Amino acid sequence: LVIVVDFGAQYAQLIARRVREAHVYSEIMPHTASAAEIMARGPKAVILSGGPQSVYVEGAPQIDPGLFGTGLPVFGICYGFQAMAQALGGEVRRTETSEFGRTAVRLDDQESSFTDGLPVQFNVWMSHGDAVTRAPEGFIELARSIGAPVAAFVDAGRRLAGVQWHPEVMHSEYGQQVLENFLFGIAGCTPDWTSANFVSEQVQRIREQVGDRKVLCALSGGVDSAVAAALVQRAIGSQLTCVFVDHGLLRKGEAEQVREDFVASTGVDLVVADEQERFLSALAGVTEPEAKRKIIGREFIRSFEAVARSVTGAKGVDFLVQGTLYPDVVESGGGDGAANIKSHHNVGGLPDDLSFTLIEPLRTLFKDEVRAAGLELGLPDEIVWRQPFPGPGLAIRIIGEVTADRLDLLREADAIARAELTAAGLDRNVWQMPVVLLADVNSVGVQGDGRTYGHPIVLRPVASEDAMTADWSRLPYDVLERISTRITNQCRQINRVVLDVTSKPPATIEWE
Ligand code: XMP
Repeated sequence: LVIVVDFGAQYAQLIARRVREAHVYSEIMPHTASAAEIMARGPKAVILSGGPQSVYVEGAPQIDPGLFGTGLPVFGICYGFQAMAQALGGEVRRTETSEFGRTAVRLDDQESSFTDGLPVQFNVWMSHGDAVTRAPEGFIELARSIGAPVAAFVDAGRRLAGVQWHPEVMHSEYGQQVLENFLFGIAGCTPDWTSANFVSEQVQRIREQVGDRKVLCALSGGVDSAVAAALVQRAIGSQLTCVFVDHGLLRKGEAEQVREDFVASTGVDLVVADEQERFLSALAGVTEPEAKRKIIGREFIRSFEAVARSVTGAKGVDFLVQGTLYPDVVESGGGDGAANIKSHHNVGGLPDDLSFTLIEPLRTLFKDEVRAAGLELGLPDEIVWRQPFPGPGLAIRIIGEVTADRLDLLREADAIARAELTAAGLDRNVWQMPVVLLADVNSVGVQGDGRTYGHPIVLRPVASEDAMTADWSRLPYDVLERISTRITNQCRQINRVVLDVTSKPPATIEWE
């Protein structure tokens, strides 16, 4: 385990992912964690993330200086690098030159195990106004740039090192090499975090937790719940019953896919609950996104409880499996001090009077790791490579009240958009492509020589690595044109198709 200490940057998750890409398991802790709390987790090493402030301003987040006395290897990045320099008696100052973006660094020392495999000069991603002007005693200064007199340092004896730049971002050349030089060259980590190990550890853990009791699993139709279910099935076999609550908010064909393909590939015991009416009436008149999310989360659990009773009789069921992922946990504010952006249906929307213990075996995984685990478990490509789809389904893609007619309309438009994307061979080029119905907006059109007053449909194709950040996908114009033509021809109440060209941030991927 490597602990990434979060100084409030967007980068902590990215660092954790890069560490895992090096096959070393890592998790994030807040900068308020004491050295003792960090030690209690038993990490092999600690990485200090970047952060938005100056280390010397009042109230700047500090690292517990005790951390450096624990003997743990520590790697500081950007703010973490400066915080480390300051804590150990080096000097951090505002220099003449801020550096933002691509910056050349020059190595002064290529002999260190920390600079193994790096050329004398390369380009990295910087984002700083302050710089380390003198390394603490015992450290070797390794690199510099125009704005950073000390851009990297190491004390190999104490196993402490740091860099001013962001090796975790894609734009930094040799970024992964730098991280791995720390992990393997300095900290002595072992690259043993693999899907196979993850699966076998979880199987073991689930068996111990569950014993001979009964488990229910919520299947949503998405990758996450499918992988979670397959994992639990591997652990406890027929003690698991999967329940698919058909809330009527799925896309065209998805309910069938769950009922047929998933069962065929895993052999799980599946109960389907048709709850379309329940959800529609609970959502009637509701337009506020958070309200929709909370209602769906609540009704979902209620449906479940009802099914659980019918499946297991008066005894009830002890455990419920959900496919919650690490980014869901962090974005719902359940991570460490992150802002609450949206209540994810499988985390923040849970009612207080929940009567199951949750099993969330994917709670520490990023999406790409879930896919790898799915393949490890033998799930077919069609399930593993499905684009992400939110738990609250099409309800949060209808801007306005959710009604049966509007759902049908959106389902039709979405099916066309997806079919064209697939036909163009672009499924794996986009991370996901929400199709959004602006149900409360009307615009004037002309169709068949007559005036129409219909709704716009928004296409929201995005590229992303983990849904934490995203860029809009540059789909070829001819594909966009085919989607637009077919939707306006085939969906009677839609007379306009628009493209969302916003990244995340500032927008989110879904509209609600
Ligand atoms: P946003 O819209 O927050 O979405 O940028 C990030 C990713 O999460 C998906 N999403 C959800 N997934 N339950 C889920 O399981 C939810 O409530 C939920 N809301 C958004 C979204 O599709 C994207 O992949």
